[in-house]
Amino acid sequence: PLVTLRTVLDHAAENNYGVAAFNVNNMEQIQSIMEAAKETDSPVIVQASRGARSYSQDNYLRHLMLAAAELYPQIPIVMHQDHGNSVKTCLSAIENGFTSVMMDGSLEEDGKTPASYEYNVKVTSEVVKLAHAKGVGVEGELGCLGSLESGEGEAEDGHGAEGVLSHDQLLTDPVQAQDFVAKTGIDALAVAIGTSHGAYKFTRPPKGDVLAMDRIIAIHKLLPNCHLVMHGSSSVPQDLQDELNKYGGKMKPTWGVPVEEIQLGIKNGVRKINVDTDNRMAITAAVRKALMESPEKFDPRDYMKPARDAMKKVCVARMVSFGQAGNA
Ligand code: G3H
Ligand code: 13P
Ligand code: NA
Ligand code: ZN
Repeated sequence: PLVTLRTVLDHAAENNYGVAAFNVNNMEQIQSIMEAAKETDSPVIVQASRGARSYSQDNYLRHLMLAAAELYPQIPIVMHQDHGNSVKTCLSAIENGFTSVMMDGSLEEDGKTPASYEYNVKVTSEVVKLAHAKGVGVEGELGCLGSLESGEGEAEDGHGAEGVLSHDQLLTDPVQAQDFVAKTGIDALAVAIGTSHGAYKFTRPPKGDVLAMDRIIAIHKLLPNCHLVMHGSSSVPQDLQDELNKYGGKMKPTWGVPVEEIQLGIKNGVRKINVDTDNRMAITAAVRKALMESPEKFDPRDYMKPARDAMKKVCVARMVSFGQAGNA
């Protein structure tokens, strides 16, 4: 059934595991996630960005989620708004049946300008009040996602690493996190630790200077009961980079967030781990391969089936590594 964020994350905390939150834009992606969940007996968080909602349309998306709940009645499913940028977006998600919303008040509504702390507290508290009245969970964010390496990644301060904020200002401040959680009443807190969205996170295997796992440990010490969320947590596996490039893709060498670092996070309060890029890479590599190997074919099912299988494989791997397998 569709359940709230609390239902899934409280169980994860009690049993020391993390839950992958996979992005969804279409039927095949939901099918991949649900088949992976069935195979591994995992609870599920599916999330839709604002871009996903406009790409697929709310009505289609809502019915895809309802279909998943109907087809897999034994699996708890959270339907989450990823990166809501305003009270209005979160409210429309709730109206469309989402059981959880992210109010990302770390940025102003333009999605670029770092917001003031006061603005973040205000909009996030407002969403919490409205959402909780309907039994919907809320994820807040403090700090700005973005690479600590110069020129890399998609920094949330809108200016890359030469942006308007220093490293220390980008990262989540543990003491401020304590105040933020107390003031807003959020169910989960997304932290900024040097990860960024997309494939180009790091130019070499990340060490502590660019991937600040120590922040998570410090935040968890001050907020032992708060569910922490890691964004930008695709691992950007080398084999998927190779597969993409083998079949005509043009990815530059890059490094993502190693699964072992995520596992360290899970030992320190991380309960929701956002993964989109790895699935995008798996799908696209499989489509490229199928099209290149069978240029005479033109039935979309001939390349969407391998794409679905490839995404399912990534989902299964993450569900097992994060420990959610066996916990549906
Ligand atoms: O927030 C990042 C997710 O990968 C979703 O991306 O906004 O392009 O749908 P999107
Ligand atoms: P990736 O780009 O690393 O998959 O991150 C996705 C994400 O954080 C969605 O909110
Ligand atoms: Na953000
Ligand atoms: Zn994100």
